[in-house]
Amino acid sequence: MGLGLIAQIIIFIFTAISLLAICFVYKFYVKPKVLMGFYEKQGVKSLCFSPFIGKYSLVSKDIVSKGDGFYTIKDFLAQNPDCKYSMTNLADFVCIQIYDPDVIREFYNCKYVVKHKFGVEIFQEFINGIIFAEGEEHTRKRKIISQAFHYQLLQSMIPPLSEIYDEFIDKVRDKKVDDCISMFQDISAESVLRLFFSKSFKDYKYRNKTITENLSDLINCAGQIAKSTEYAFLGKGFLRFGKLLTLKKTAKEIKKIFKEVINNRINSTNLQDLKHKQRKDMMDYLIENQGIDQIESENKITIDTIIEEFITFYAAGLDTTGHTLGMAMYYLSVYQECTKLLAEEIQATIKSQADLTSENIKNMKYLQAFVNEVLRHYTIADQLFMRIATQDIKLGNLKVKKGTILNVGNLENHFDPKYFKNPHQFNPQRWLDGSLDKLPTYIFNPFSAGKNNCIGQHFAQINIKIGLIKFIQSFNFEIDPNYKLVLTFQFLIEPQQPIALTFKSKKL
Ligand code: HEM
Repeated sequence: MGLGLIAQIIIFIFTAISLLAICFVYKFYVKPKVLMGFYEKQGVKSLCFSPFIGKYSLVSKDIVSKGDGFYTIKDFLAQNPDCKYSMTNLADFVCIQIYDPDVIREFYNCKYVVKHKFGVEIFQEFINGIIFAEGEEHTRKRKIISQAFHYQLLQSMIPPLSEIYDEFIDKVRDKKVDDCISMFQDISAESVLRLFFSKSFKDYKYRNKTITENLSDLINCAGQIAKSTEYAFLGKGFLRFGKLLTLKKTAKEIKKIFKEVINNRINSTNLQDLKHKQRKDMMDYLIENQGIDQIESENKITIDTIIEEFITFYAAGLDTTGHTLGMAMYYLSVYQECTKLLAEEIQATIKSQADLTSENIKNMKYLQAFVNEVLRHYTIADQLFMRIATQDIKLGNLKVKKGTILNVGNLENHFDPKYFKNPHQFNPQRWLDGSLDKLPTYIFNPFSAGKNNCIGQHFAQINIKIGLIKFIQSFNFEIDPNYKLVLTFQFLIEPQQPIALTFKSKKL
């Protein structure tokens, strides 16, 4: 090979690398910067600009300097009162956070704003439920599920939920649990199973693990991938022949088992008997209301769809409820005064198992205030699903370019001192003292709003409340006095170190 050819190859490689570098800089620096300039001219304040990772650079900085990865975000409206929007970058996108209630309403009603799958599309490889549906398909699925998921079903879930908590309470009595969020994830998983099928699946195994352990592993593994650096830079393409294949195989096997269970259930169900059945589960309501068929239609649902929706519920309920309950226990262990007030309310209302009714639970005002305050401080699912503008639009006075990511700034709103006095203080009393009576709609939004709001929110709330009642009735909670809560961003907003608690039996 002559020297001339070597020089040509070197020049070619150098040019190719330079071009790639220019494209990279253009895509991840120049393009978002120029778009941010467009929004800046309209008065939108920048929360931060950091190539590629955007506001997650703030999280890392805040963990070190403030001990809370979300401090600057939570404090944004205290520093910038009456701001209607803020902006950051993320990968090659510009993200606008919306704070103004009127603009939030417009956002939820705008048909040119759809879910953006950035960070969550990995789940779509093996889940095809309502959470990923758009347009008419979403409306149809939402109708089917809402019909099945009504008040009577929630009421009938109180005894099974109570049983699940009793089982776990026996297991942890006078013990230290090293990761109590993980324990509450197991409880949440079990509760979704009972919601759908009224039974546990401990006897169903795949690869020496129970089917629910497999399902939880699958969801956790997908969550790990979704937050990995490789995934952020390369997308799911790099996984095509590796982990993703294993995930899909496991999902296929799990679905096969549930298909058999559902088939048996349908074959053994008599519609006449069902009408008079006392305690119905989600499957009963789906069979009764909907009718199961081979082909999906306006009035019919297929077994495959039921499986997809069940796995969606499992995934959507597992981490959210588990983390919220785990964090609620953390707050109980730290704010003993709240625990005392809660214990008094529980003692006055729930004197025996028979008192554990939806009516009584609804009337426990301090319990509701405590749950609200946990959800305000710890808005776990904030911005899980980002939205994107599918064409140029106007929201409020803001001209929004197609391709801009749009989100409601829930976390910022939950800490806006205009509404929440001393917002960083954990104070359930604020929900009872009248100061929040005139809170505008869309400011406190832990379950999101609009057509995609959390369909499981009433179930989640009743589950969390029963968990709190049962655990407070049984235990005093002790946390290591040296434990320091530092919130970070994993797949969701999560504590950096597991929360370890000792559950000491209450003396009766
Ligand atoms: C504390 C517990 C929970 C929180 C904070 C929470 C939060 C949320 C949020 C914020 C969304 C909306 C996401 C968006 O706007 O795109 C959502 C959607 C959803 N959640 Fe929950 N969730 C919780 C528990 C549950 C449970 C227990 C279930 C099921 C049993 C569930 C099922 C769903 C489903 C199916 C959707 C999608 C609804 C749709 O797209 O129409 N969630 N959740």
